[in-house]
Amino acid sequence: MNQVIAVCGKGGVGKTTISALLGRALAADTEDRVLVVDADPAGGLAMALDWSVAGSINDLRQEILDAIERRKTDQADLAAAIDYRLLEMLSDRDNLALLSVGRSEEAGCFCNLNTVLREAIEALSGHFRTTIVDAEAGLEQVNRRVMRSVTHLLLVTDPGAKGVRVAEEIHALAVEAVAPKRVGLLVNRVRSEAEIDSIRSRTKLPLLGWIPEDDAVRTFDAQARSLLELPPCPAVAAVRAWISDGEFFG
Ligand SMILES: Nc1ncnc2c1ncn2[C@@H]1O[C@H](COP(=O)(O)OP(=O)(O)O)[C@@H](O)[C@H]1O
Ligand SMILES: [Mg+2]
Repeated sequence: MNQVIAVCGKGGVGKTTISALLGRALAADTEDRVLVVDADPAGGLAMALDWSVAGSINDLRQEILDAIERRKTDQADLAAAIDYRLLEMLSDRDNLALLSVGRSEEAGCFCNLNTVLREAIEALSGHFRTTIVDAEAGLEQVNRRVMRSVTHLLLVTDPGAKGVRVAEEIHALAVEAVAPKRVGLLVNRVRSEAEIDSIRSRTKLPLLGWIPEDDAVRTFDAQARSLLELPPCPAVAAVRAWISDGEFFG
């Protein structure tokens, strides 16, 4: 079955970095096509991958609104056009494809950006073995309206207490809203075993694994270089080892 992995957590803990490294590793180490979705209106994933995107979900949303306003299309035409435009908006490299949510200027519009995002994820995830959704920080997107098709909830935290608390809040909401098949906590930017022990003692969330603090990641970020080009380094190795242990996936 296709899997849709939502990468959630507090701002700044490493959701975008993990989404990029996970997408890269899954696309390289398996035969599968992988879709990464930049679902954070603040962006970041396209930049972390150094990819320019052909269009965004927000562009598509605008096109839908325009079509409805002009009453130019009927429902069936519109649905077909949306599917076609979604595929056009993907930017592809080898086994990896990127879709960006973009940014909406209008609040509270009936054609909500997150609703179009959910429809897009549902329409596209059938074409990919794995879809990775780099979610907005915090709780805004953790509801059935956005996450209906999510099968795996990957809660990312740094070793700090706030990150773990936000992960627990997201977990409580998500389990009620979407009942994902697999859930767990991935601890990023770890500097010592003691930090892992401390987290283990503070939370009941299942601990999936941890990614070390890695100077190579920081340097690439500072130089705005694509994480796809990271040479072998501890963070990349940790992500690959975590994938190959296989417990969370499938
Ligand atoms: N394992 C790591 N080692 C070193 N720096 C990291 C690591 N993971 C993330 N970072 C850095 O932390 C910052 C925030 O990461 P990011 O992935 O953008 O977080 P989020 O998407 O959760 O806001 C970035 O500058 C990134 O380069
Ligand atoms: Mg981010």
